[in-house]
Amino acid sequence: MQIVKKSASEVPAYVTSIITDQLNQKKNSILGLATGSTPLAIYKYWIEEFKQGNLDFSQAISFNLDEYVNLPASDPRSYNYYMKENLFQHINIDQNNTHIPNGQAESLQEECARYDQRIQEFGGIDLQILGIGLNGHIGFNEPSNELLLNTHVTPLSESTRIANSRFFDHIDQVPTQAITMGIGSIFKAKKIILIAMGVEKSEIVKQAFLGNITTQVPASLLQLHHNVEIVVDTDCGKLIT
Ligand code: GLP
Repeated sequence: MQIVKKSASEVPAYVTSIITDQLNQKKNSILGLATGSTPLAIYKYWIEEFKQGNLDFSQAISFNLDEYVNLPASDPRSYNYYMKENLFQHINIDQNNTHIPNGQAESLQEECARYDQRIQEFGGIDLQILGIGLNGHIGFNEPSNELLLNTHVTPLSESTRIANSRFFDHIDQVPTQAITMGIGSIFKAKKIILIAMGVEKSEIVKQAFLGNITTQVPASLLQLHHNVEIVVDTDCGKLIT
C-alpha cells in the first residue's frame, strides 16, 4: 500500500494521470467508478482532458460500485443520474459499456449475481476508483462483524443515511438500502486508488490505513490488497506523517 499526499488542487491532475496511463496502455480498460462528492473534481478534470484530446474513453468499459435501491435512474439523487450528469454525457464512453447496479430490478438478488458475472465476463476491473465514507465504508460495505464478498443488497447505516441526507430534502427520503459491490468484488480489481479529501476524513483515514485491519472499518481491509494507492489531500493527511 502506498499513501500519496498532494495539495487539494493537485489531486485531480494526479489521479487523472493514472487513468490516462491506464487507458494509454489498454484502450478497453475496465474502470471501476465511484460516486459521492470526492470524485466530482476528478471527473471534471477527465472531462477537460477529454476535450483537450488527451483522454479517450471510446473503448473503455465502466462498472459503478453501488446504487440505491428503489430510486429510479431518472431521480437526480440516483447514482445512475449522477454518473450521466457528471461524467458520461460529457465524454465519448459508449453508454452500452457503462454499468451501474439496477436498484429497481424485479429480483435484486439476481441483479447482484448478474453484476459480478458481467464484471468477470469482461475480464475483471483493471482500475478501481474508491472514496471512503466517514465511517470507513467503501462502496456501501458498511462496518459490520462480517463483510460480504460479492455484490449484494445492504441496509444503509444510520450514520451513512445522515451523511448522505445532504443530497435529499429530508433524511426520511434517503433510501434505507443499496446494492453494492462486495469486498471480494472490489478486491479482484488489479489496481485500486482510494481518494480522501478534507479534514473531516483525516481520523477515519488514519484508522483505516495506519490502524489494525477490522471489518468495523471496511476500508482497512485494503491494506491487504497487492496494488493499492491511497491519495489524500493535505488536510486529510494531516494525521499521517
Ligand atoms: C457514498 C458512496 C461511497 C462514497 C462515500 C463517500 O455514500 N456510496 O462510494 O465513497 O459515500 O462519499 P463522499 O465522497 O461524498 O464523502
